Amino acid sequence: METSLKNKKILITAGPTREYIDPVRFISNESSGKMGYEIAEALHKMGADVILVSGPVSIKSTLPNHKTIKVVTGNEMLLECQKHFNSIDIAIFCAAVADYKPKITSGIKIKKIENNVTLELQKNVDIALEFGKLKTANQISVGFALETNNVLENSIGKLKKKNFDLVVMNSPNLNKGFGYDTNKIAIVHTDLSLHHFPLKSKKEVAIDIISLIKINVKTKQR
Ligand code: C5P
Repeated sequence: METSLKNKKILITAGPTREYIDPVRFISNESSGKMGYEIAEALHKMGADVILVSGPVSIKSTLPNHKTIKVVTGNEMLLECQKHFNSIDIAIFCAAVADYKPKITSGIKIKKIENNVTLELQKNVDIALEFGKLKTANQISVGFALETNNVLENSIGKLKKKNFDLVVMNSPNLNKGFGYDTNKIAIVHTDLSLHHFPLKSKKEVAIDIISLIKINVKTKQR
């Protein structure tokens, strides 16, 4: 019998975060949020109890309003996610949380000066890493890796460091991955088995990812 994700509590992070330099300037990235939104919507249609925590994106969620929590910074995303860490069955970390944030955020707009300026950055919170420290044997954690080189090696490194069960490797190349409607993925599992998928729409990729998660759920239930 096929494993069902009906009523499973699933947390999904999506989109970029913004880390403010001053009230009008911030550090961010190209993430569109599409992949996370497609996964959340597909899971919702399957009857899962979905919570989507999203950074600023231009797409509209088709989930019921209370299922999407909008945040801006990495810290806000972490705080919203932490509320659910104990109660979720599955966490899917699609968000491209900014790796660094300004050490100081100015409360007023910084005035332009004639000279060059140096911006001091500090490491941002790592949401997947925090969940990885707390994850119980019955919980599943899925991460994403966007790498240009040493893709598999770096993805396995993340799998171990962040205690993921699966890492979805996606491509930053032209016409697939960040910002595009299509994606070409491969998924690496903790047993280091590797699953390759052809270039597909993000809607179809969401279904592929969910089917591998279902296999993991089945294995954990044994
Ligand atoms: O280390 P790296 O940023 O490449 O790890 C990517 C994975 O970790 C993704 O699943 C991403 O959503 C998650 N992540 C996170 N918080 C961060 C950075 C990455 O949850 N600050």
